[in-house]
Amino acid sequence: MGMLGFYLRLDCLFVLSFLVCSTPREDHIRCSSSNNTNCTIENAYGIFPDRTACKARGVAYPTTEEELVSTVAYGTKYKIPMKAATRYAHSIPKLACPRGEEGLIISTKNLNRVVQINVEELTMTVESGATLRQVISEAAKVGLALPYAPYWWGLTIGGLVGTGAHGSTLWGKGSSVHDYVVGLRLVSPGGPEDGHVKVRSFGEGDKDINAAKVSLGVLGVISQVTLNLQPMFKRSITYLSKNDSDLGDQVLKFGKQHEFADILWYPSQHKAVYRVDDRVSSNTSGNGLYDFLPFRATTSLALELIRTAEENQESKSDADGKCSGAKLVTSGLLSSAYGLTNNGMIFTGYPVIGYQNRLQASGTCLDNLQDSRITACAWDSRIKGEFFHQTTFSISLSVAKSFIQDVQKLVEIEPKSLCGVEIYNGILMRYVTASTAYLGKQEDAIDFDITYYRSKDPMTPRLHEGILEEIEQLALFKYRALPHWGKNRNIAFAGVMKKYKNGKEFLRVKEVYDPMGLFSSEWSDQVLGIKGEVNLVMEGCALEGLCICSEDIHCAPSKGYFCRPGKVFRDARVCTP
Ligand SMILES: Cc1cc2nc3c(=O)[nH]c(=O)nc-3n(C[C@H](O)[C@H](O)[C@H](O)COP(=O)(O)OP(=O)(O)OC[C@H]3O[C@@H](n4cnc5c(N)ncnc54)[C@H](O)[C@@H]3O)c2cc1C
Ligand SMILES: *[C@@H]1O[C@H](CO)[C@@H](O)[C@H](O)[C@H]1NC(C)=O
Ligand SMILES: *[C@@H]1O[C@H](CO)[C@@H](O)[C@H](O)[C@H]1NC(C)=O
Ligand SMILES: *[C@@H]1O[C@H](CO)[C@@H](O)[C@H](O)[C@H]1NC(C)=O
Ligand SMILES: *[C@@H]1O[C@H](CO)[C@@H](O)[C@H](O)[C@H]1NC(C)=O
Repeated sequence: MGMLGFYLRLDCLFVLSFLVCSTPREDHIRCSSSNNTNCTIENAYGIFPDRTACKARGVAYPTTEEELVSTVAYGTKYKIPMKAATRYAHSIPKLACPRGEEGLIISTKNLNRVVQINVEELTMTVESGATLRQVISEAAKVGLALPYAPYWWGLTIGGLVGTGAHGSTLWGKGSSVHDYVVGLRLVSPGGPEDGHVKVRSFGEGDKDINAAKVSLGVLGVISQVTLNLQPMFKRSITYLSKNDSDLGDQVLKFGKQHEFADILWYPSQHKAVYRVDDRVSSNTSGNGLYDFLPFRATTSLALELIRTAEENQESKSDADGKCSGAKLVTSGLLSSAYGLTNNGMIFTGYPVIGYQNRLQASGTCLDNLQDSRITACAWDSRIKGEFFHQTTFSISLSVAKSFIQDVQKLVEIEPKSLCGVEIYNGILMRYVTASTAYLGKQEDAIDFDITYYRSKDPMTPRLHEGILEEIEQLALFKYRALPHWGKNRNIAFAGVMKKYKNGKEFLRVKEVYDPMGLFSSEWSDQVLGIKGEVNLVMEGCALEGLCICSEDIHCAPSKGYFCRPGKVFRDARVCTP
């Protein structure tokens, strides 16, 4: 692809002046030379599930739709693989990489303005690189609110819609942001007759908007999104801690009772913390603020100490140490109300009442990104901090109870096995609803978010490896759970398209919009079942979720971990001592 270098240089100088000709300060997209060529892209965690970096020939930073259109036209004309990337790249799977090593990354970092707000019609149009934080605060300025959203505001609208991100509710149209999208503009490849680029504008009634919303970036680059908002409202939040013996029975009832309900489950402690969270009249007094503690900046020194302690517990198989650590973490969080305050300063007691925009999401650790030596987000890869896997899936409400009971049976067999998950604040359970998006949720469901230790050494098994793998397989196979597109270890996506009744329809649209597959990658081809296998079978592959073990060698036989059936779900194949 010597020619590509030539064209990039040419355009850098003459045509695409926004193919910024100096290296911008951005950590996850790095280019070796001053002309934005020879680049690597990572996610915000600094590592993809398979631990390989991903390469690209260049990166463009369009600042307007016009510039975006000429970038896509340029890439299409020269058949260059392309991929939209975002300001922080918060997805875990390898979604952000263009195919091969000679592709073009199209960053939406500078495509982040508010285009229009229509207060009467309750709509807001933003460019796709706008962050959730921007959307929330700009809407609030004119008295509007996005009713349901992810809890972390560092995501972009393009990225969160593209991966089906959500908050928690069973009410209204549900908790997925894409179900509040009423307009969308998409820039895709075109034929020579179109100048190699096609801009499509979708309204609510257009059939293909169901493909364009949750698109994993494979249809082109979303330029703008129009969201349906609501008049600003207030909420009242109370956290209630209970034992988990009737959790399976409570789960459905609780979700129907409270609009913004969610549950934090600490299975080894036999506890569940219920978030009783409802809309209240806007004349109810209170100016509460939710600045979630784990999303605040933490000193690098503290993060290093915590990680070192965790590494020591792992190397000594110190389950008791993990369990006492978990109790410390979770009781500390509960007693500090997880970062809620009644007035933005101190917590004086429940309920915490306040405006939606001050309670729905947070992420103040992003404010300190520049100087990670002192403070950082806990998972910042530039320092020694948290390093974890995330297994996140949704299970149909009709079988959620049975899944919860299976996990409880596992805890009965191995009581300390989930203390390691509790160190990361337990299993977060949130409500999601069936969507018309082809790759959206198929049924009303409960989303389980499980975070756990990952070793820096891919060949080192983790403590209670087998239990965590069994829960993952229980969910995916016995209960046919749907994985969150923006999280998870690779195996969650093997054969996943079979779980979507309109999966074929999505592939049909993709074929029409991008027949050359310029916006596809090796990873998206594997996930969408177009080419290749998600599973990567090699020594130790099951430890990292790159395969499900079928032989001992996929585990760590030299460290005493062998491939065995599950303890509750006998069809599972897990690495266990
Ligand atoms: C701390 C933290 C908290 C989180 N909390 C939640 C939560 O509460 N709920 C939840 O559901 N998820 C949550 N997530 C996961 C998150 O939702 C997804 O990883 C997220 O959607 C990624 O958004 P992003 O803007 O970083 O996009 P990226 O990860 O950069 O991109 C994701 C995909 O979207 C595509 N894409 C991005 N922009 C465009 C565009 N303009 N046009 C076309 N394609 C595009 C990319 O090509 C890529 O394929 C959290 C993640 C983190 C790190
Ligand atoms: C970019 O810069 C490198 C050296 O800094 C040079 O080798 C390469 O040819 C340049 N590429 C373009 C497209 O200008
Ligand atoms: C491209 O980057 C790689 C690794 O970052 C480096 O080894 C190589 O020399 C670079 N090539 C050019 C032409 O700059
Ligand atoms: C759990 O709490 C319920 C009441 O909410 C009580 O009836 C039950 O005995 C408790 N179970 C345990 C194991 O403590
Ligand atoms: C709040 O407003 C409602 C009507 O919107 C009214 O019935 C109620 O009395 C008000 N409460 C207070 C405390 O002012």
